[in-house]
Amino acid sequence: MKKVLILVAAALAVLPLGGASRKKAVKASKEQTVVAVPTVEKTVIPISTDNTQMVLVAFGKGILHTYHYGAKLTDPGEYANFNSRMGSNNGDGPMTYPTQGGKYVSEPALSVKYADGYRNTELCYVSHTQSVRGNVVKTEIQMKDYVTGLQVKLVYDAYQKEDVILAHTEITNGGKVPVELENYASSSLFLRGDKFLLTHTYGDWGAEMQVDREVLTHNMKVVETKRGTQATQWNNPAFMVSMDTDCFSETEGEVIAGALCWSGNFRLSFEKGVSHNLNIVAGINPYSSEYPLGAGETFVTPEMVWTFSAEGAGRASRNIHSWARHYGVYGGDQIKPALLNSWEGAYFTFTTETLLRMIDDAASMGLEMFVLDDGWFAMDYPRDNDRQGLGDWEVNTRKLPEGIDYVAKYAHGKGLKFGIWIEPEMVNPKSNLAQAHPDWVVRSPGREIYQHRNQWILDLTNPEVQDFVFSIFDNTMQLSKDIDYIKFDSNRAINNFGSDFLGKDQSRFYVDYVQGLYKVMQRVREKYPDTIVQCCSSGGSRVDYGSLRYFDEFWTSDDTDAMERVKIQYGTSLFYPACTMASHVSAVPNHQTGNVTPLKFRFDIACAGRLGMELQPKNLSAEEKALADRCISSYKVWRDLVFQGDLYRISSPYESDYYALMYVSEDKSRAVVFTYSTNYLNRAIGTKTFRLRGLDPQKKYKVSEQNVDTSVFSANGKSLSGSYLMNGGFNLNLFKTFQSAVFYLEAE
Ligand code: DGJ
Repeated sequence: MKKVLILVAAALAVLPLGGASRKKAVKASKEQTVVAVPTVEKTVIPISTDNTQMVLVAFGKGILHTYHYGAKLTDPGEYANFNSRMGSNNGDGPMTYPTQGGKYVSEPALSVKYADGYRNTELCYVSHTQSVRGNVVKTEIQMKDYVTGLQVKLVYDAYQKEDVILAHTEITNGGKVPVELENYASSSLFLRGDKFLLTHTYGDWGAEMQVDREVLTHNMKVVETKRGTQATQWNNPAFMVSMDTDCFSETEGEVIAGALCWSGNFRLSFEKGVSHNLNIVAGINPYSSEYPLGAGETFVTPEMVWTFSAEGAGRASRNIHSWARHYGVYGGDQIKPALLNSWEGAYFTFTTETLLRMIDDAASMGLEMFVLDDGWFAMDYPRDNDRQGLGDWEVNTRKLPEGIDYVAKYAHGKGLKFGIWIEPEMVNPKSNLAQAHPDWVVRSPGREIYQHRNQWILDLTNPEVQDFVFSIFDNTMQLSKDIDYIKFDSNRAINNFGSDFLGKDQSRFYVDYVQGLYKVMQRVREKYPDTIVQCCSSGGSRVDYGSLRYFDEFWTSDDTDAMERVKIQYGTSLFYPACTMASHVSAVPNHQTGNVTPLKFRFDIACAGRLGMELQPKNLSAEEKALADRCISSYKVWRDLVFQGDLYRISSPYESDYYALMYVSEDKSRAVVFTYSTNYLNRAIGTKTFRLRGLDPQKKYKVSEQNVDTSVFSANGKSLSGSYLMNGGFNLNLFKTFQSAVFYLEAE
């Protein structure tokens, strides 16, 4: 009915009418006042690091364009003369933070629904400031919509030495009535070029961080997740774009890499336009997440990490890793202990005695920490399997009558640190917690609460639940003064989402959940700054730089098969440094794949990250224990390179039958090289010569193969120049599946 009336009014407006009808027409065609937008002086805003630069230019009626992200220019001011020549064809051209509204008709970073139902936003540059704090130059650009009063601040933190720029956005409702944010991306980046090779990851449980690569075609490519929790099990919010090429190169060409610091639903869109351009929009996934913003309120988006490399993907990874170690990862500059985790060695079945013997064995092999995994808690519904007990965090004194403190003290007495597992944001329906607090569970009225791994999710949007989750961490820490490490797990994704707490504001759920988690972790870090905390989520399902602000490391994958780990660790290394990557030697046949892999190969893979073991050591033979001891002690000599060195990937498991990588110290005086053969090759094909990278050509390095009596390298033990090793022949004799070799290089 309403629709018809409107159509009639519109028709009347174009007819020459008199009397009452004429009055209606005037009303329908009532002239509106157009709000005047001031013209700004052309302003060039360079956002620079030691070797890179973004150049933004404001002009006209406050239009803000991104003209450059690449190598640092001698005079970015020259961009004052630049004309993108896109104005008439494609909205307003290379918008720095495109909005829905104005002439812009491509993917917006921001769209807002105002109280009157209109959805147009046109942001105009108002002013900007730049300030320096140590290694970081901060640029803050104030933008405004002159019609609605919406204010947007674009913030860029440029990490000089690391060549990394962090971007986020602060959106303030400057109007008098609430608005709803429909899209609220962290950052957008406009790139010019003809070919864009996108590298991103995909996967699933036990096969995380598999690499996908494609030359983008016109229109839209989206990498996203809607899983809520376990956001990164299928896709990771990190990517690389190799510019003007269809070849991925570790060493050559311009590469732009990005990573979103967010542990929930994310969306990365890549829109290739016809004007030789690509527009990337990165941020929280707007899926089911319209976010209400009251008058005067500000929404701060997560940060987006950007880097540019003129030397291929290798340099892009090193830039991000270096930023991560210094700023992005909690405890990223520390060396972490090599540990034995109880999970695959004992699962839910253990007594105090079992644990003490595992501790004895761990100590005898030179490990430095023992971690008690799942199964230690719950009395009424004992956690003897994954079907019950989750949520009831009292020590199971039938299993462990002497308590946790006794075991932790025992570990300390043996010179080991002690860690323990929790999964505080989840609950089994079969638990006292689920019965006491059904309103804390993520659920939707009248609908079944589906189980996954027999568990439900607690509603972290609710501050009471946040207090509870914090209290589980806190109470666990009180079980013993000797707890040094917490493995913080999270084993399912969200479905049928809903929150009793949020009432009608259900669309806040996905965002408030992640913010609830961060609030908990903030409190954890205030109270326990020195505790090592692992972010475990069925393996690599919460691997992102949002969580790593609070967590020291992540459990890379539940798939502990060393051969499977080749691709998982390779994919992870593109964006995350080795110090974050927990990597454990497990038993054979492998519990996930059933494969039987030599112990040496298992160690050589695990030693390329934060080394651990995940088996029942009493099942190892004396010979195997001796090899373990040998590998662990050599690891201790050079693990500082794994944790803090620069990564050079030498050979990709996707492009060859070898995976090879190396870590080099900052002063290039030491390096460790890992090489793996992933297939059987006959002796002729298998004569691979690796060219090392990142060394000083002038220096002479003593090369020593680790953990073997007879080396696969004919020049083992000799001193060779960096020049020879990088250009000539590091020719190994690796040709069988599962053969591997690790070399330590020390400059003389
Ligand atoms: C999943 C984790 O990834 C495993 O390492 C283990 O901690 C189990 N959860 C325990 O339930």
